Amino acid sequence: MKIVTILGARPQFIKAGPVSREIRKQHTEIIVHTGQHYDANMSDIFFEELNIPKPDYHLNVGSGSHGVQTANMLTSIEEIILKEEPDYVLVYGDTNSTLAGALAASKLHIPIVHIEAGLRSFNKKMPEEVNRILTDHVSEFLFCPTDTAVQNLEKENITKNVFNVGDVMYDAVMYNQDIADKSTLMNDLGLTEKEFYLITVHRAENTEDPERMNNILDAFSKVEGTKVWPIHPRTKNKLKSSGIDLDAIPGLKVIEPIGYLDMLSLEKNAKKILTDSGGVQKEAYFVKTPCVTLRDETEWVETLHQDANILVGADTEKILEAVQAPCHSDYPPIFGDGNTSEKIVKMISDK
Ligand code: UD1
Ligand code: UDP
Repeated sequence: MKIVTILGARPQFIKAGPVSREIRKQHTEIIVHTGQHYDANMSDIFFEELNIPKPDYHLNVGSGSHGVQTANMLTSIEEIILKEEPDYVLVYGDTNSTLAGALAASKLHIPIVHIEAGLRSFNKKMPEEVNRILTDHVSEFLFCPTDTAVQNLEKENITKNVFNVGDVMYDAVMYNQDIADKSTLMNDLGLTEKEFYLITVHRAENTEDPERMNNILDAFSKVEGTKVWPIHPRTKNKLKSSGIDLDAIPGLKVIEPIGYLDMLSLEKNAKKILTDSGGVQKEAYFVKTPCVTLRDETEWVETLHQDANILVGADTEKILEAVQAPCHSDYPPIFGDGNTSEKIVKMISDK
């Protein structure tokens, strides 16, 4: 069986780690890297750390408006599918690379495998919500990470080949956590276990809204203690062009984006994580570090259980309250057993 896998953005490389390993045990995989993320620390580092084979095709689309970026991907992916004639096209999550892969495949009648199907924020202003709804509606296999995701699809009358298989990001954490324990980043940054906060912010709804961003930064300046922020290039560029100087925030260490193993180490050792990332919310849950989510809604509603994750939007006071709030979660295992990738590949193979 031949599978064309479409990758483009940081979280997709991480998801591909365990899945590609399983696919390649029995099948032929052709990896297409759209080039949506291209800095070495947003792309190459993950291929190296996670032993993902070099992409067979690199589209180098780079950054741009949604229309330009998606259209450039679509044109090239269509050519590749026509040439490779795969049995399936595999897409992950909800980025523009996901949508381009799904659109190209569906028009050529190649069945689509969607990993991380069924997630909904119910906020169609998020580009990701549009990408995931459209992708789900043209997919043949919908691999959901949670029961909620299955129910979301049911409400949209999508019931065929919908499976709750768990989360491939949990597989990645299970596989890599011992290796991540060897990271020296904590030491290099002079950090002490459970005595620092880890921050990530990159969602357009925050970075492109000055009022929200100001409220979030105001909260960061009021949270006492050490705060480490591996900054996403989108956010770095936006703050720079707005003339905002993060050096003015006491206790804040802003660093370049880091590799996955270093990130896992910081996530595990942080006192709390403040983030608007989807993947980081989940990883906080996997490594049992309380999370404060800088969004108005989350697709990962299960993580809100017993305040393991607290939704605060971009409200300064709510952020500060949540940073102080106790977390009593017993972290029930709701994202599978760490063998989700194997299950997915078996189900496709048995079809
Ligand atoms: C994208 C996804 C988002 C995902 C995120 C993961 C879409 C619509 N959004 O958002 O769902 O959560 O990736 O990180 O697909 N940039 C660089 N170097 C890079 C990549 C980006 O400098 O290697 C800068 C560029 O200025 C670019 C901006 O970041 O314009 C945004 O990049 P883009 O890929 O369009 O969106 P993300 O915010 O990364
Ligand atoms: N991540 C990383 N280095 C960083 C920040 C994040 O390796 O500096 C990883 C993180 O551990 C998670 C994934 O990137 O696995 C999340 O990606 P991101 O936050 O960019 O996107 P989202 O999950 O919100 O789509």
